[in-house]
Amino acid sequence: MGKLEGKVAIITGGASGIGECMVDLFAQEGAIVIAADINETALETASQKQNVYGMKLNVASDENWEALAKVVSERFGKIDILVNNAGISSEKPFEEINAQDWEKMLSINGFGPFAGMKHVTPYMAAQQKGSIVNISSYTAMIGQGFNHYSASKGAVRALSKAAATTFGRQGIRVNALFPGIIETPMTQSLSTSKELLGRLIQATPLQRLGQAMDIAKAALFLASDDSSYITGSELVIDGGYSAQ
Ligand SMILES: NC(=O)c1ccc[n+]([C@@H]2O[C@H](COP(=O)([O-])OP(=O)(O)OC[C@H]3O[C@@H](n4cnc5c(N)ncnc54)[C@H](O)[C@@H]3O)[C@@H](O)[C@H]2O)c1
Repeated sequence: MGKLEGKVAIITGGASGIGECMVDLFAQEGAIVIAADINETALETASQKQNVYGMKLNVASDENWEALAKVVSERFGKIDILVNNAGISSEKPFEEINAQDWEKMLSINGFGPFAGMKHVTPYMAAQQKGSIVNISSYTAMIGQGFNHYSASKGAVRALSKAAATTFGRQGIRVNALFPGIIETPMTQSLSTSKELLGRLIQATPLQRLGQAMDIAKAALFLASDDSSYITGSELVIDGGYSAQ
C-alpha cells in the first residue's frame, strides 16, 4: 500500500521541475493529485498521468485560490495535502530591483503560499486533519545574492512557523523545506555558468547538485502520516552547503 493511499493532494507549480517530480511520486504513492499551475500547456502533459488532474491556478490570485479549493473539495470530497511549491526566481542586482519587481516576487512567492493556506485550511479543519508543505529555499537562511527572491523565501519561512502554531489545534501540520541548488528548468534559466556550477559542487560537502527527487522524497515524508508529530519544522536539503 502506498504512503498516500486515499489522500487528495494539491501541488502548486506541478507542471515543471520539483513540482512535477512531486506530482509523479505522490500519485505513485496512491494519492489523487491536483497539479495546479499557471502554465496550461505543461498541465496538459500532467493531466495524461493516472490519478493526476491538471488545474489552472495563478497562486498570486486570492480569487483563483478560493475557486480551486472549492472545486477540489466538491469534486474529490476533501483536501488532505497542500504543497506550496510554485515560484519564480531572479538574480537581479540589489540596486536594480524596483517596486514592481518586488511586488511581483512577493505576490507569487509570498502571497501565493499565504493564500493557499488561507483557502485550503477550512477544508482541512473540517476533517481535523491536514498536512501543508511549503517550499522555501536555502537562500532564506544564508546570503547568496538573490536579494528579493531571498526575501520572498524568508517570508515563506516565517509564515510556515506562524501557520503551524495557528492551525495545529485543528489537526493541521505545516512544515517547510529549504532546497539548495536543484537541477530544474529554474536553475537552467539562471545565468550560472558551468564553471560556477563546478565550483558550487566543489563547495558542497556531498559533492553534487540536488535533484528534484531529493526534495520530492522529503515532501512525501512531511505530507504523509509518517510525520504525524512533526509541525513547524524546517528541513534543509542542500548537500550540507549552508551548514558550513
Ligand atoms: N531549483 C532550485 O534550485 C530551487 C532551490 C530552492 C528553492 N526552489 C523552489 O522550489 C520551487 C520549485 O522550483 P523549480 O526549480 O521546480 O522551478 P520551475 O521553474 O521548474 O517550476 C516552477 C513552476 O511554478 C509555476 N509557476 C510560476 N508562477 C506561477 C504562478 N503565479 N501560479 C502558479 N504557478 C506558477 C511555473 O509555471 C512552473 O511550472 C520554487 O518555489 C523555487 O523557488 C528551487
